[in-house]
Amino acid sequence: MSLDIWVVGNGAREQAIKSACEKSALSDKVHLIEDLTPYLDCNYNVDIEKLPEIPDLVIFGPEQPICDGMVDKFENAGIKCIGINQAFSRLESSKLFAKSFIVNNGIKCAKLLPIESNEFPQVLKFDGLCKGKGVKVVYNNEEKNAFARKFTGMRYFIEEYLEGDEISVMSYLYDGRLINFRPARDFKRLSADKNSPNTGGMGAYTPVTLSSEQQVKLDIYLKRLESALLNAEAEFRGFIYSGLIWAKNDWYVLEYNVRLGDPECQAILTNLKNDFLDILINGTEPEYKDGVGACLTIAAEGYPDTPIKGDEIILPEDSRVVVYNAGVIEKDGKLYSNGGRVLSICTNSENPFPILKNYAEKIQMKHKYYRKDIDI
Ligand code: AMP
Ligand code: GLY
Repeated sequence: MSLDIWVVGNGAREQAIKSACEKSALSDKVHLIEDLTPYLDCNYNVDIEKLPEIPDLVIFGPEQPICDGMVDKFENAGIKCIGINQAFSRLESSKLFAKSFIVNNGIKCAKLLPIESNEFPQVLKFDGLCKGKGVKVVYNNEEKNAFARKFTGMRYFIEEYLEGDEISVMSYLYDGRLINFRPARDFKRLSADKNSPNTGGMGAYTPVTLSSEQQVKLDIYLKRLESALLNAEAEFRGFIYSGLIWAKNDWYVLEYNVRLGDPECQAILTNLKNDFLDILINGTEPEYKDGVGACLTIAAEGYPDTPIKGDEIILPEDSRVVVYNAGVIEKDGKLYSNGGRVLSICTNSENPFPILKNYAEKIQMKHKYYRKDIDI
């Protein structure tokens, strides 16, 4: 097979997916497509005439085009896609839809509290795509009201606060079964301070060591998720991300995303031994290298609210480290920072974070910021 593949999106996750597809024996050309609008007609349907060539497969990276129904539109135009359809994308775009899917299928999640509850800490969750900013753990009414005011006009709910270790599990729905990747751990907070802002992720690694009870219960959860999707007649090939917390001796779902996590995807693909496209197209099971796949996010100072942009970036040489660009632009052969999350640096090793932190230290970029505390 020599497939012409489009990867939709423009972050480090999509760069990593593109690179994994390029390594595959099944691909011929792999294009990164940042913006689909040039290929749509005035009704936002795919206009085949506008495509420079017809891809054999379109792999969707971020949630926005998936939640906008682009998978359905490309499929309707006869083009095969990897991505969840619009009906099921509500698992990410509506936390209330996700809550009822979870509860109706006997899956565990944090219990809902009345809006006026004074049981603190508690968690406020806004219903909609908020890029990780619509959730906050609050400790008193003042914090609760201040956060609620930020999202005036949006629906929200309150749930009990659960305490425990979190993991991210990426699954791929392939023709009636779930193919599950090994759990990853994502460092979501901006710093080691548990009250620091939530970010998309400052680093990740996989696999995560689980106790035998945790592994048994994870397998039970994943079977339940598979049955829930099949009972609901999910018919797509796409990724589903379970954000799980170990609390009260079981896995509780904190969130679903309808895509691979960023930076979890980079850690998983760094650790993956077999052909990623073969998994996607032929449904083979993932196999892994020895050691740990890890990724460290190089952000810009001021991230997540007001990142400083425009710094020249000079990267050191280190054959052990792979660098994926996120918020980077190239001008006259030089690289400049152009976003909050600037680079994803990845390696696979028995002890990956010292290698990544050493590399991060040597990157020249005036306003770089990364977490020095994270480790496996
Ligand atoms: P979410 O986008 O729902 O995953 O929430 C983002 C982060 O907020 C999670 O990774 C948790 O660290 C935290 N969080 C969300 N819901 C809860 C909860 N019920 N209890 C404790 N922490 C939570
Ligand atoms: N790393 C968290 C996410 O992708 O949502």
